[in-house]
Amino acid sequence: MNGHLDLLIPRHDIEQTVSRLAGQVSEDYRGRQLLVVGVLKGAFIFMADLVRQIEIPLEVDFVTVSSYGSGSESSRRIRVLQDMTLPVKDKDVLIVEDIVDSGYTANYVLHHARDMGAHSVALCALADKPSRRETPIEIAYLGFTVPDRFVVGYGLDFDNKFRYLPDIYAIEMPDEHA
Ligand code: IMP
Ligand code: MG
Repeated sequence: MNGHLDLLIPRHDIEQTVSRLAGQVSEDYRGRQLLVVGVLKGAFIFMADLVRQIEIPLEVDFVTVSSYGSGSESSRRIRVLQDMTLPVKDKDVLIVEDIVDSGYTANYVLHHARDMGAHSVALCALADKPSRRETPIEIAYLGFTVPDRFVVGYGLDFDNKFRYLPDIYAIEMPDEHA
């Protein structure tokens, strides 16, 4: 895989969008018991930027799930590799995802938080690839809608590479349209 990268979303646009999302969350969750749960690893940079712009008290937790192998192919087998550690009961949980593709991962995590007794559960996603959706899902707070291409950077990886890039790129996949 030769990995040609096309700049899709420059860091300045990301910054503005994260501010917008943080503003909406701050407004909607004022006076509530906000627990922000990042889905690792992809959400780590987005999550760090987002919580620093939210202007109300909150707690931070993470969950690590795995649904993908080493490549970019989706699989419906989702596993919790590391669960949340804080009590969820009666809290208003905001799940933070890097990207919603088929929708299975986000759906799984939302249900998981509900099963743990959350008072409310909502989803905040940096990016959405609606053309690939296989299961319906409501994204309460959405950063960007992206085309049906594999995107990397700002936390998003291909085979654990490119997460550290400050901008978001589309990666040229050899078998993209195969
Ligand atoms: P879903 O379960 O198919 O919605 O997949 C969601 C997960 O797959 C995300 O949390 C990402 O980690 C990963 N993923 C899906 N599309 C991309 C992409 O374009 N770039 C990087 N990761 C992706
Ligand atoms: Mg990933």
